[in-house]
Amino acid sequence: MDELEIQLDEHDYTDLLRADARAGLSATPKWLPPKWFYDARGSELFEQITRLPEYYPTRAERQILAARAGEVAATTSARTLVELGSGSSEKTRLLLDALRDAGTLATFVPLDVSDTALAEAAGAIAGDYPGLRVRGVVGDFTRHLKLLPADGARLVAFLGGTIGNLLPADRARFLSELRDSLEPGEWLLLGAGLVTDPDVLVPAYDDAAGVTAEFNRNVLHVLNRELGADFDASAFDHVAVWDEEQEWIEMRLRAGRAMTVHLPALDLTVEFAAGEELRTEVSAKFRRESLTRELAGAGFDVRRFWTDPDARYSLTLASSR
Ligand code: SAH
Ligand code: TRP
Repeated sequence: MDELEIQLDEHDYTDLLRADARAGLSATPKWLPPKWFYDARGSELFEQITRLPEYYPTRAERQILAARAGEVAATTSARTLVELGSGSSEKTRLLLDALRDAGTLATFVPLDVSDTALAEAAGAIAGDYPGLRVRGVVGDFTRHLKLLPADGARLVAFLGGTIGNLLPADRARFLSELRDSLEPGEWLLLGAGLVTDPDVLVPAYDDAAGVTAEFNRNVLHVLNRELGADFDASAFDHVAVWDEEQEWIEMRLRAGRAMTVHLPALDLTVEFAAGEELRTEVSAKFRRESLTRELAGAGFDVRRFWTDPDARYSLTLASSR
């Protein structure tokens, strides 16, 4: 494997975290952006989530990829596979296999904010795919798309339903910036959760074993470590609610009692009332029509749309205009 390319170093990371923590914890209601879940422990907890019986998205996406990776390879003839928010890149191997078998693949570019998850995944893939150039990038896909390597005929995979973790305005900006960073005729493969029964949706974000609760609380451990904060994470309860109007799952942390939290690195003191909720994440679910419209608005033409047999999850292949 080549060295990891660092577009986001320790220093940028802490600066961004500080700015986000100050903005979010000073707001009413309080919120935090989701990228800060994924330190080494957060990435490991997310991998555990993907194996939970309640968390269907990973299995549904893998099923669609297993059925369609060959068609993706034949349609795109991609030379470079870029993966945004790549995490473990475990399902991505189905795409790598298909592109290798089609004889077009030369380079794999996984990009993630989590340097530990990225280093592990990039190293494992470099070992398992001899001859493949693996260029891991530690970066933020809301900031560093302009810097993606352009060595010809790219396919950008954005899997795991992570698109749904961006708020609508951020999502529109992200898709436009992605389109602007691609040449006409290059490709996007987008995995997105679909609107389905809340009795299926909610448990996927509130599992019986409490792994998602631990994952949610992990963001407080990150603030304690990186900013010297004194959150008592165990005093916060995990909350997952389906917002029928916005069509998203909203994840929150609810203060079990009144608390005063100090963030010395920000020179900030934050009060929580008993029962007060901090929003940590949304996971938007989509419909075929609105997804097609959003992609078209950003300059992508939808060429294929697939779902799993239960129609809970979708994979869209779109080409850049
Ligand atoms: N693609 C994997 C992982 C999904 S979890 C899968 O389908 O299973 C979301 C991943 O996106 C995590 O690895 C997290 O570290 C990464 N991530 C979240 N926000 C990010 C951002 N702004 N820039 C880059 N990576 C981000
Ligand atoms: N991209 C994943 C999703 O929206 C991320 C995720 C899964 C998540 N479970 C979570 C984020 C729980 C926060 C809390 O499905």
